[in-house]
Amino acid sequence: MTEELLGSLRASAAAIEGELVALRRKLHAYPELSFEEERTSAAVAEWLDGLGLDVVRRGVGGHGIVAELAGTRPGPRIALRADMDALPIQEESSLPYASQVPGVMHACGHDAHTAMLCGAVRLLANRRDRLAGSVRFLFQSAEEINAGAKAMIEQGALDGVDEIYGLHNLPTLPASQTGTRFGALMGSVDQFELTVTGRGGHGALPEQCVDPVVAASAIVMALQTAVSRELSPFSPAVVTVGSVHGGASYNVIPERVELAGTVRTFSADIQEQMPERLRRLIERTAQAYRCEAELRYIRHVPVLVNDDACVRHAEAAIDAVLGRANRIEAPPVLAGEDFSVYLQRVPGCFFWLGSGPKTGAERAYGLHHPRYTLNEDCLPDGAAVLAAIALGRLGVSS
Ligand code: NI
Repeated sequence: MTEELLGSLRASAAAIEGELVALRRKLHAYPELSFEEERTSAAVAEWLDGLGLDVVRRGVGGHGIVAELAGTRPGPRIALRADMDALPIQEESSLPYASQVPGVMHACGHDAHTAMLCGAVRLLANRRDRLAGSVRFLFQSAEEINAGAKAMIEQGALDGVDEIYGLHNLPTLPASQTGTRFGALMGSVDQFELTVTGRGGHGALPEQCVDPVVAASAIVMALQTAVSRELSPFSPAVVTVGSVHGGASYNVIPERVELAGTVRTFSADIQEQMPERLRRLIERTAQAYRCEAELRYIRHVPVLVNDDACVRHAEAAIDAVLGRANRIEAPPVLAGEDFSVYLQRVPGCFFWLGSGPKTGAERAYGLHHPRYTLNEDCLPDGAAVLAAIALGRLGVSS
């Protein structure tokens, strides 16, 4: 990218900051749950209207929007993606534009991601004569339930795409800073639910019962060895039992206990092995206590693996817009992101964009916290970086 193009991109991003803030606040005040992003999607469509895009498909994979901007010359197709859904959390910030919807909150900043991508569309639409190739914009539904990316792909959102890029804000990283990583950045996500069935009865007569509470307790403990005793300490994975429900009275042995949990891994092979590993520990532990256990294992998303060349492209754009000094190597995390589903099909890069306070004096609440807030300085940053990635891949000098 030339200095002249970069300078004009930065200036344009700064010039639309007020509009991006207004759009983000509008989305923030009316958050919508996964697959219910009707109003959000309408606001995006309104923003896109009049920008001269070549294709705007609505209702893709839920309320998703797929828009395309063709440059004036032929070339590859680069996709940029933002997610639009909110979480079932009661907002506890006292912001003037706090959620107006009880029990629903943009606690993961997808409102900001949507505004940033809207900004990138504007920045690129005004520079289409500098593009050899096309840019496809994906505004996605239902990231929080790991379903939106799959739904969009099923409806052709990735067809003809050569590379894909996306970002997530990170409130623990100051605004204007970024984090990138080669290879695996985020973990795979799976869910499991199980029912442990015994024979209920009087709490004073265990000999007439088969106690599923004791079997379930032993299962919870046995599951602690699925990672610690079976995987290399250099192969990160997590098995967490997050829910245990059984019984209603202090003196009754219940008939059954329900458990639920999550499995996170950092490699496709280990993700593949985990269902059988859990099944063995669960079923045989249940048997040892004369109970039956029924496991339901639900695959969500794969490990998020960045493509090396695409990481370099993203880093070049980040360095051009925000400066090399503002980019760190991101540590891996076992949280998941359904961007991984796109990356299974086409090469790309997902990275962190700082959205935290610029001074250490303020405390930043993390993602999914009821008091999570975001430093809106990240909005023009995100818009400019996303646009710079596309210009870096498709840009021509004049
Ligand atoms: Ni998120």
